[in-house]
Amino acid sequence: MIKPSMRSELVSYPIRDIVVEAKRLEKQGIKMAYLNIGDPAPFGFRPPKHVTDAVIEAARQNYSAYAPSEGDPELRKEIAKCEGVGEGDVFVTAGLSEGIDFLFQALVDPGRNILLPLPAYPLYSTKQRLSYGPLDFYGCDENYEPNIDDLRKKISPYTRAILVINPNNPTGKVYSRKTLEKIVDVAGEYKLPIIADDAYEHIILDESDYVNMRKIHKDVPIVSGNSLSKNFIYPGARVGYVAFHGNWGEEIKDAMQRLCNQRLSVNWEMQRGYIAALRGPMDHVKAFNAELRKRRDVLMRRVGEIEGLHVVKPGGAFYAFVKVESNRWKSDWEFARALLKKGVVVVPGSGFGPVGNIYFRMVFLPSVEQLNGAFDKIEEMMKGK
Ligand SMILES: Cc1ncc(COP(=O)(O)O)c(C=O)c1O
Repeated sequence: MIKPSMRSELVSYPIRDIVVEAKRLEKQGIKMAYLNIGDPAPFGFRPPKHVTDAVIEAARQNYSAYAPSEGDPELRKEIAKCEGVGEGDVFVTAGLSEGIDFLFQALVDPGRNILLPLPAYPLYSTKQRLSYGPLDFYGCDENYEPNIDDLRKKISPYTRAILVINPNNPTGKVYSRKTLEKIVDVAGEYKLPIIADDAYEHIILDESDYVNMRKIHKDVPIVSGNSLSKNFIYPGARVGYVAFHGNWGEEIKDAMQRLCNQRLSVNWEMQRGYIAALRGPMDHVKAFNAELRKRRDVLMRRVGEIEGLHVVKPGGAFYAFVKVESNRWKSDWEFARALLKKGVVVVPGSGFGPVGNIYFRMVFLPSVEQLNGAFDKIEEMMKGK
């Protein structure tokens, strides 16, 4: 028997972990509705054609070499233009996931941390654990708006940066401009940089005062993370980037360059697709968001009708973080497993941090019919049938 490393024991990804159990039940004949993973493709959504055309064209041309480690120069230029930074401030990564990995490696020594919002996309907790530092979160209020007093309280001598995910995964919350300005003020006061996760930047479902951190960060250094995955409906492309705004100094960028060099490069054809995405029209956003609004209507109506469930209306992304107000289940895992037996896969809320109570995250990407089918099963279970 070969034992895995202690380091590997620190790795988990609850969004996919639950699928192992779902597949087992599927083999026993239970038909599953997968509401666990934020991938639009299985529900019929496709990347814009001009993006896939550019990828195909690149595959026909000579893009079979290793790309420059820090990214295709034309892509860096396009990103720099969008972000309002210099080309040297941009590093292209294999999805934003790799960008997050590199940021932890570049910023966080053992014993240090990046202060995470609660709840937060679980990759951040995993990377924090792998950095051997204290996992620490700042909370939010009952509407999922960050709690600024708690943020202040949680900043410690070990904090290296503050993470902001807006729109948020898993809550779908679009933060108010006022809240973001307060976060910038606190970061400025404590001389901490901000990591702005913009994975869902274009998936804003309502008229709102959404503002991107890059527009309001004043003299606080921020690093913006983005990717083709959600904003251009192309998660399989595995291309993203991080862009440094403000006064970070050259040492961090040198560290990022070395992190990029050691893994050689990101798939070049896909990077050419990202260039087309940034230069091309954004019509897909309107169509995608219109579809998502229809599906969110089903979510809000059905949750509203089911006694014991509560949800704050998601204003962006395609997730809902649903609270289970019932003491029939002792934990979120017990709830999620009971629901699995009914044929619905959701992610237990504790996968996103120590949220207390029973929550689950679901996507509202499925069609109206599929969502209604899943809610029929959820309703049945909540009624004790
Ligand atoms: C908030 C957030 N950040 C980052 C990522 C990573 O995305 P990718 O690596 O596909 O760009 C995701 C993926 O779901 C996400 O939800």
